[in-house]
Amino acid sequence: MKIDILTLFPEMLNGYLSESILKRAIEKNIVEINIINFRDFSKLNNKQVDDTPYGGGAGMVLRCEPIVAAIESVKTEDSLVILLTPQGQTYTQKMAEKLKSYKHLILVCGHYEGFDERILNFVDLELSIGDFILTGGEAAALVVTDSIVRLLDNVIRVDSKNNETFADNLVDYPTYTKPREFRGLKVPEVLLNGDHQKIEDWRKEQQIIKTKEKRPDLLK
Ligand SMILES: C[S@@+](CC[C@H](N)C(=O)[O-])C[C@H]1O[C@@H](n2cnc3c(N)ncnc32)[C@H](O)[C@@H]1O
Repeated sequence: MKIDILTLFPEMLNGYLSESILKRAIEKNIVEINIINFRDFSKLNNKQVDDTPYGGGAGMVLRCEPIVAAIESVKTEDSLVILLTPQGQTYTQKMAEKLKSYKHLILVCGHYEGFDERILNFVDLELSIGDFILTGGEAAALVVTDSIVRLLDNVIRVDSKNNETFADNLVDYPTYTKPREFRGLKVPEVLLNGDHQKIEDWRKEQQIIKTKEKRPDLLK
């Protein structure tokens, strides 16, 4: 899979992509991630990519020409162009599952007041990561990238993903590690006896109990 992230602030992305599971997925060539700077596509002498809004009002707006030129520089017939915006449909794990089968995603990050509305004509999908306003789309692009890459084959162990929260519309079961007792809080006895069937049954039961407590909406 290839993911191109289009942004005005490449440095906001570099650190996250060069650590942990994403770093390993890139090194193993499971995913190719490129960061593309809108500024490289500005035809203006000062490389400006934004301007004041027609009609007046606060802030700066990203101009059509450099943003669309950046999209078109990487777009192929296999691409899905996604605009990160608080106005888009809310991103979920189910969407991550769908998007992981695309060969090429283009993630377009806004900034300042957002985009010239005409840019919407050049994208396939508008995605929001939640009902709040971020400074820019970079954090949202990382959320989308991370959640998709970890679903690709050979990135993390299959059994790590099977019981994760949202799989089968349940939350994950409780996990514990050493020590056996911490400030009077004990690890459940069933996890210490080595009976794999009992452990599996207990975990499934706990998933249902915890989902009812924390996320009853998932059971509907
Ligand atoms: C300050 S916001 C602009 C908000 C815009 N004026 C509005 O009210 O819809 C700047 C950029 O951050 C990104 N952004 C902000 N909140 C987001 C969210 N919840 N999900 C995805 N992207 C978001 C978008 O790319 C947006 O263009």
